[in-house]
Amino acid sequence: MDKFKIKGGVPLSGELPVSGSKNAALPALAACLLTEEPVTLRRVPQVKDIATMVSLLTYSGAKADRQGGQIRVEARVLDRPEAPYDVVKTMRASSLVLGPLVARTGRARVSMPGGCAIGSRPINLHVSALEQLGAKIEQTHGYIDALAPEGLQGARIHFDRITVTGTEDLLMAAVLAHGETVIGNAAREPEVEDLADLLIAMGAKIEGAGTSTITVQGVERLHGAEHTIIPDRIEAGTFLLAAAITKGNLVVSGCDPDHISALIVKMRQAGVEITEAGSGGLRVKGPAFRARATDMTTEEYPGFATDLQAQYMAWMTVAQGISFITETIFENRFMHVQELARMGANIRIEGRQAIVAGEEGLTGAEVIASDLRGSASLVLAALIAKGESTVDRVYHIDRGYEGVEKKLAAAGARIKRVT
Ligand code: EPZ
Repeated sequence: MDKFKIKGGVPLSGELPVSGSKNAALPALAACLLTEEPVTLRRVPQVKDIATMVSLLTYSGAKADRQGGQIRVEARVLDRPEAPYDVVKTMRASSLVLGPLVARTGRARVSMPGGCAIGSRPINLHVSALEQLGAKIEQTHGYIDALAPEGLQGARIHFDRITVTGTEDLLMAAVLAHGETVIGNAAREPEVEDLADLLIAMGAKIEGAGTSTITVQGVERLHGAEHTIIPDRIEAGTFLLAAAITKGNLVVSGCDPDHISALIVKMRQAGVEITEAGSGGLRVKGPAFRARATDMTTEEYPGFATDLQAQYMAWMTVAQGISFITETIFENRFMHVQELARMGANIRIEGRQAIVAGEEGLTGAEVIASDLRGSASLVLAALIAKGESTVDRVYHIDRGYEGVEKKLAAAGARIKRVT
């Protein structure tokens, strides 16, 4: 299993370029199942989860041709509208094919996702939304069987709680349903809006994406399209925090600052200088002094992203003072705390809150990643830790960060992958 060896203590400089968004590319790939015509997606990050989604599409019968960051998908015939457990168990986002498959073929057999390190993460809201569109759903032997031989029927659906992939799954089902669908308490994440832009380019009728209420007029069929995926706001946020934690001075390029405004506000409160650096760039100048401890609570968009909580915490472990970090989205997203403690961090957990007492510095250690964003927080901590650290199980980070060690090394980090 690959590991990273990292020697801390170098302020990052130069540039950290941002790739396309994993969490926008995944539903966009699933949306390709909605038409028999070819769809071309650009700026698709070359990360493991994308490869997993592509294998799901080809399993259903679609053809996929990849050239670097461009993927052309042609789902002319879907003779096996299924998502097998072997694939789904490696990536929860596989449930994103449920809506498109039942909408396009009238049936779908999708494995239930099973457990996850950061929380129970059920997909009951996906299932009940499809049932409200008229799908007959049975859950047996670990699989969801959805049937709608006459097609789906538009409806008014209100989510009990905001769900990102739930909103995306329902949106993809509703575009081919008969009549109007209104989605209430919808997720407002930029990835949802990007999916709607692709679907509209394919001929869908959607209004209100990016707000809490989305209205869809179903259409008979969708056609092919070309679409460029938005930048990865979580990768951009991770890089901003990498610059701040190392007291570096660099440009994070190719990002959309509007998508990370909650993070930028917090970082400025803590003493970081962040300025626009030309189109799609942000210059970050870490404070010469220790950052000010600054409390943070994760929320749905446009609040502070839960996918940046662990990385932010790593920074607060060396801030001046005590910060309170509250995780409201997932019930078990503090797996990185014990590993940060091995590097000398002083963190106490009380329920959904972590109380972080900032230390002068951290010391290098052997640590193990437990999930995608937790692994990023360990890398950030190792970038400032005294001496060398080894981060094990970096297959977690490979799921969502494209060539992260190469990008960081180009910005001065002493990091290498050990295979
Ligand atoms: C998406 O996951 C992202 N994944 C996650 O990013 C991100 O952490 C999450 O949204 C929140 O922003 C992708 O987009 C592929 P949710 P998703 O449904 O859609 C509960 C990363 O690191 N819930 O918005 O699965 C759920 O348990 C990943 O890139 C139900 O109870 O998250 C959670 O507590 C990790 N029933 C809350 O809602 C449901 O049917 C929000 O989850 C669905 C969700």
